[in-house]
This record gives sequence, structure tokens and C-alpha cells, in this order.
Amino acid sequence: MSESITSMLQENRIFEPSEHFQSHIGPIYVPDLKTYHDMYRRSIDDPAGFWGDIAKDFHWYRPWKRVVDWNVPDAKWFVDGTTNVCANCVDRQVKNGHGDELAILWEGEPCSPDPEVRRLTYRDLLREVSQTANALKSMGVQRGDVVTIYMGMVPELAIAMLACARIGAPHSVIFGGFASPAIVDRVQDAKSKIIITCDGAWRRGQIVSLKKNVDDACEKLPDVQNVLVVRRTNSPVTMHTGRDQWWHELVSNQSSECPCEEMDSEDLLFLLYTSGSTGKPKGICHTTGGYMIYTAHTARMTFNLVPQRNQVFFCTADIGWITGHSYIVYGMLPNRVPTVMYEGAPNFPAEDRFWSMVARHKVTHFYTAPTAIRAFMKWGDEQPRKHDLSSLLLLGTVGEPINPEAWIWYHQNIGQSRCPIVDTMWQTETGGHIITPLPGCTPTVPGSCTLPAFGIDAAIVNENGEELPANQGGLLVIRRPWPGMLRGIHGDRARFIETYWTKVPGMYIAGDGARRDERGYFWIMGRIDDVINVSGHRLGTMEVESALVSHPAIVEAAVVGIPHEIKGTGIAAFVTLAPQFKGPADDSLRKQLMEHVTKEIGAIARPDMIRFTTLLPKTRSGKIMRRLLRDIAAGKESTQDTTTLEDFNALAKLRENEE
Ligand code: WT7
Repeated sequence: MSESITSMLQENRIFEPSEHFQSHIGPIYVPDLKTYHDMYRRSIDDPAGFWGDIAKDFHWYRPWKRVVDWNVPDAKWFVDGTTNVCANCVDRQVKNGHGDELAILWEGEPCSPDPEVRRLTYRDLLREVSQTANALKSMGVQRGDVVTIYMGMVPELAIAMLACARIGAPHSVIFGGFASPAIVDRVQDAKSKIIITCDGAWRRGQIVSLKKNVDDACEKLPDVQNVLVVRRTNSPVTMHTGRDQWWHELVSNQSSECPCEEMDSEDLLFLLYTSGSTGKPKGICHTTGGYMIYTAHTARMTFNLVPQRNQVFFCTADIGWITGHSYIVYGMLPNRVPTVMYEGAPNFPAEDRFWSMVARHKVTHFYTAPTAIRAFMKWGDEQPRKHDLSSLLLLGTVGEPINPEAWIWYHQNIGQSRCPIVDTMWQTETGGHIITPLPGCTPTVPGSCTLPAFGIDAAIVNENGEELPANQGGLLVIRRPWPGMLRGIHGDRARFIETYWTKVPGMYIAGDGARRDERGYFWIMGRIDDVINVSGHRLGTMEVESALVSHPAIVEAAVVGIPHEIKGTGIAAFVTLAPQFKGPADDSLRKQLMEHVTKEIGAIARPDMIRFTTLLPKTRSGKIMRRLLRDIAAGKESTQDTTTLEDFNALAKLRENEE
């Protein structure tokens, strides 16, 4: 599609809620914009009334005294209330007579034409979670101890998280695609003494050696006392006596009775590490009551979840990211709509894996990332056409701005022009959706995430916190607390305040540039810090730079994002060679460096382009001029002001080097 059509789509095409959706979804919670605006106003003007009403439908041991306490930047929600997230996800459903309903549908990577499928009811979950919780206790895990989870997408991953929640042990899930140095950093920061892992994980017919990565990490982690290993791939692993135990041996021998710990609403539920602009990944803290209510409520509204309407929800994310935490596990189970977990990759055994799953499991809700949609487009319209997608009612996207071409393709080829698309904007820090259309209610415009979620006082402001007029680009902020907001960065109060609360004093700053159009719709323009979003995965340019300079051939590195057809943003690295490095700066060194980054962080951080240079362009104060590098990497003539460049030679040299 040409540029001009793209911008025309962006400006003009509006998609009203479809009749098909309205007649098939069941009751629509927010049937029109007027209702949305009324509810939104109440959520902002009377948060205590709004959230209190929602939280009443959950199980609490002790009711809260106040709905919210706010003392910038510290929020407490459901103050003094006590509850247990696992009890609300699992026990409550069994107690209310829904024990035999499907909770989790898992599909393994197909090793044969007939993929392995496991169906877990709430009763199954209750048994397995309780046994796992007892197993954790038998290894000495106590309330408050952080349990690290580094697993593939197997049901035991969700079970392990719920078991932790049950006994009040916060979990820290590490994405299975990370390499062992990334495990070391996260386990050390969390002071975790136990890791739950798998022997391996299946991905495109290959085995990812998770246990081996844990073993390597443990060489630098003397405090790890227990490693619990799920057998998945049957690959050979070394079990360290006294430290390692098999899940199937330990867990199945446990009692299936395990009481839930009564947790304070503000007790830590989990840590999830995410990238920032500087330093090592930060452990985002989410607590019990607020996160539970916020994820369940946003899931219900954004996806219009209705139990017992044969809805099946399929989010393609990995649980290692916040999307999986919130919209595969915690936001889904309280809503009593079956959630699909899949193992493997979207293009294995063939490029129709998802469409085959949608047809076989009669998926009604499909939630994925723009980068995946761009890959589907490349794989061709015939892939979805091979399957019956008539069960689909609603599509969602998340992770990065969606380009209108991808939006339209998704709408036509997957949604068959009748499924609403919800473009959900949110972050690890926000716990759940912050800006999103509501299906059956909000008219959508390709490329816009539309209107704020309930309780989210989102605005576009300048650095003084003054709201900007329509269509003027500025900083995306949230001016009031919401239940799902992060409560801190683990062990780093100063960084928490500095990152989110000082740039625009008194307001939460998301780190994205955005504008609001005359309709009030939000358009996200992308990160304004040194965070890049590669295939919807968040990376700090600094992390990639430190990985590069840890290679002996490199003294200095600057990493920037470049436009990439599938990934949205790719990684470009500019590196200067160490004087003692005598070899040629050639493709073989490039390849070595790419491998090196993969080994240090993981394949998601592998640079797409590496350029050797003798100098990096810097300002007089020594700051690398990233914007300039971005233009050079993207092959653009730079329009940047270069008057502060310390050495004009640097720029000329970089340009000479262009291939
Ligand atoms: C960053 C957060 C929350 C789940 C996945 C990513 C970008 C996320 C959208 C969207 C435009 C989006 C933002 C944000 N982002 N969703 N619908 N439209 N941009 O979570 O890893 O914490 O990354 O992803 O830049 O700040 P994350």
C-alpha cells in the first residue's frame, strides 16, 4: 500500500461496531459511547465508588477500609483488605459450582499431525496448584520468598505462578528466550533462592535447553538452593544432588489440600523485569488486590468476556511478558472464560499454526502483536483461508503501534470484516490496558488505540504538565492512580521516582510520545527514551551496548532502533574497535558480535545491522548523538542540528562507511 493511502486510512476510515459482533457476543457491557463517557466520568470523579463496586464481586477475607490512599507516587488500593489471588482465580470457581468447566486449554508444539492438547478444569487446577504449593513449602519456600520461574509455555508454568500466589510467595517469571547471564542478573536482584524450570522447551522442532541455562547461571548464583524441573522434552539433563528435583516426582506425592494464605491487598504478588533506558532491567512490583481487580476488570471490558457463552480466549503472548501474566492467567481465570496457552512458534510446523488452532478449538477471541500480523501478511492470505475462522468474534493487538496496512489486513483476512479490533495500549508498569477501544462501543480508526480505560486519567502534556491542544505531540502521562499501577522498582526507590515521577512532577510518565486527535483519540508515536520495541519486546539500548562492549574486540558501542518491515523496530549497532584488535572488521566479526549478544541477552537482542566506525558522534558534553545515528542507520539525510557535534569528522566517517 502506498504512503498516501496509508495516511488516508489513518485520517479517514472509521469502523463502527459490527452487527455480527453485537448479535453474537452476548450482553455488551458498554453498548455505546454515551455509556462509556458516563462510566468513565464516574471512574475518574468517584474512584472509590467505581472500584469498590467492582471489587465487591471478588472474595475478600477482610474488607478494605478505604478504596484508595494516594500520596504521590505511592498508591494503596483496597487499604487493609485481605484476599488471595489464587483463591479468586481458582477456588472461587470450584466453590460456586464451576469446577468442571474448562479453565486452561494448552496445546503443545505439534510433534505429529495430532498435537498434544491438555484441558484443565478449575477442579484440576485446584488440585495441581495445591500440590505444587505444598511442594514449594516442602522445599522451604515461605510467604514473602521470591520464586524464580524460567520455563517454556507448559501448563505447569501457570500452575507454578498460581501456587506461588496461593502461599504468598511472589514469583519472578523470566522469559524462556533469555540467556543465562540474564537469569543471573534477575535472580540476584530478586534475591531468589529457588528456580522452577523445565528440562527443555520445544520451539520449531528444536529443543531450547532451559535446564542447561539454569545450570550455567547457577555457577554464579551460590544462594540458589533448590531447582525444580518439569520434564517436557525428555532431553538429557544433569541433576545436581541436593539441589535439583523433578517436578513429577515431588509434586505428585503432595497432598492436594493447601490453604490459601490470607494476603494484605498491598503484599507483593510478583516481580517482572523489564528494560529501562539505563542500567540493568528493573523489577516492576505488582501487588495483590489492585492488580487482581484491574486485570480482571480490563479483561472483562476490553474483550467483553461472558462466561458460558462458549467463549475461548487465545492470547499468543508468552507468559514471560506482562501480556501473558495479565491476559493469559490473572485477568482471565476470574472471568471464567477458558484461556488458551500454546507452546512453539507461529510458523511451525507450518505458517497456519494459529489458524489451525482457531478452527480446532473454536477460538472466539484472538489477541496478538502487530509484528506477528506483519509476519502473517508476508506468509500470505492463503494461510488463514485454509481454515474455518467463523468462530472468531473479536481481535486484539498489543505491544507497539499498529500500522494501518496491518490493521486492515487483520480486519479483512482474520476478522473477515466483521470482528472488532481492540488496539490495546499498556505497559508492564500499568498492569493492564490503559487506552483501548471497547468492542461493540468504540468506533475504531486504524492505528489509534482510541480512548482511556476506566479510571485512567490519561493526557498529553508538555514538560510542565500542561495539557496540549488536539493533534499536538507531547508526553503521555497518567494524572491519577489506578489499581493496576506498579508500586515500585524492586530495591530501587530512587530509580522508581526518577524514571516515572520527576520528568513531569506529580504525574506518571509512560515514556511514550503521543497525540490526541480532535475526537479525543490517542495516537501513540513511540518511546521517547532509550527503550526500543523490537517485535513488541522491550529492550534498553544500553543493555545491548553493554553486551557488545563485553566482547574483547569492542571498546564503545551505540545502539539505536531502525525501521524494520516485520519487527517494527530493528536494532542497529555502531561499534568502535579496540586498538588491540588486529583482525579485519568484516562480516565474520559482525556475525561473532551478533552471536555474542545472543549469548549475553537472548536472540531477541541480536542486532540486525552492525557498523564499524572509528568515532561515534558526540555532543561537547560527551553524549552520543543517537538521533543522528538513527537517521544514518535508516539511510535518511539527517535534518538534525549538528552544531553541538564535538567532532564533525565523526559524522563524515560514518557516512563514508555506509554500505
Ligand atoms: C511499551 C510497553 C503491555 C504489553 C506489551 C508491551 C508500547 C504497547 C501498544 C499499543 C502503541 C504500544 C509502548 C509502551 N505499546 N502497546 N497498543 N500501541 N504502543 O509491554 O514491554 O512494557 O512495553 O510498548 O511503547 O510504552 P512493555
